[in-house]
Amino acid sequence: MTSLVFSNIGELTTNDPTVGDESVMGRIKGAALVIEDGKIVWTGSSANAPAADSEIDVEGSAIIPGFVDSHTHLVFAGERSEEFAARMAGERYDGGGIATTVNATRSASATELRECTQSRLDALRAHGVTTVEMKSGYDLTLEGEVRLCEIAGDFTEETTFLGAHVVPIEFKNRRDDYVALVAGEMLDRCAPLVRWADVFCDQGAFSVDEARLILSRASERGLSLRLHGNQLGHTGGIELAVELDAASVDHCTHVSDLDVEALAGSNTVATLLPGAEFSTKSEYPSGRHLLDAGVTVALATDCNPGTSYVTNMGLIIALAVREMGLSVDEALYAATMGGAKALRRPDIGHLRLGAKADLAILSVSKAAHFAYQPGASLVRAVHIGGKTPGFWG
Ligand code: NIG
Ligand code: FE
Repeated sequence: MTSLVFSNIGELTTNDPTVGDESVMGRIKGAALVIEDGKIVWTGSSANAPAADSEIDVEGSAIIPGFVDSHTHLVFAGERSEEFAARMAGERYDGGGIATTVNATRSASATELRECTQSRLDALRAHGVTTVEMKSGYDLTLEGEVRLCEIAGDFTEETTFLGAHVVPIEFKNRRDDYVALVAGEMLDRCAPLVRWADVFCDQGAFSVDEARLILSRASERGLSLRLHGNQLGHTGGIELAVELDAASVDHCTHVSDLDVEALAGSNTVATLLPGAEFSTKSEYPSGRHLLDAGVTVALATDCNPGTSYVTNMGLIIALAVREMGLSVDEALYAATMGGAKALRRPDIGHLRLGAKADLAILSVSKAAHFAYQPGASLVRAVHIGGKTPGFWG
């Protein structure tokens, strides 16, 4: 057993309400934190820190739980900057551009896909992400979706089958056949490779009934459920997610009072993706309204080439604070504990005793700077299970 103490932490955010300022953030000033075998074993005042095998003096920097990015589409090839520019000039997003990325991804080699996934993952980590969910969904053929699920599995345990992203062009006049393929043979092949199933349940993608069929089959094959819902309209995705006890319903750009009521009495997290409203020039939903109603809220990047080519979780926090009515601490909590709840992972998103030692060491003394310095590079290093994949400053 080897132990490591981080000392001289200017501000430690633990998300443990039993320590420090006893708020939900569990803040300790002038703190130390000890990890042993990849787990948190002690937090408290630096002055009382126990001896350890080695020490990292962080010289007044803040430490936070690593961000949990519970929604990304990292495995893709190509780019769609022209589509982005057209939207900034007034064009509406309708999911049609997904076909462009499908063509580029089908043509890319596995090596190319691995390389660009790795560089996007490096960018997320450089901004403090220690756990990342990754979806398939940019191939939409049987063998191609298997390939994307396998590649995602090389990078994370939080892998998601999204064969039901849109109906691909070759099934344009046979959508029932595509739904049958996804719910049948494609799921049979992909289910053993992933933890989650997701469906884009929205205008121009899949209906509530199609999504219910696909997700029910996925559940029968042992997958846990999540859902893209209510991005483009009041399309019933939120109600379906609650009905199926999905871990999370993501986007929630359009939310009715009934949706809020259903979410508030459920185990389904509302995952907000402000990068998508930013990049599609859409109205931001009110995170404030959801929180006030008692809904559990997560924040994620939704990193994808169409609606949110964002790898900076700090920017997501800043947008949630500026545009969705969250306080700075609520946004930090949603990007850490919220993401962990959206992935139903009790071991991450906080630095309580026994938690996985996933943390980010900042270059500033307070975590509030993520909102205060929007878009800045504020992360010096991340530790994942006590290991350091990289230092940046
Ligand atoms: O989460 N909405 C569906 N899927 C992605 C975007 C896909 C794309 O446009 O490439 C999203 O926004
Ligand atoms: Fe998405």
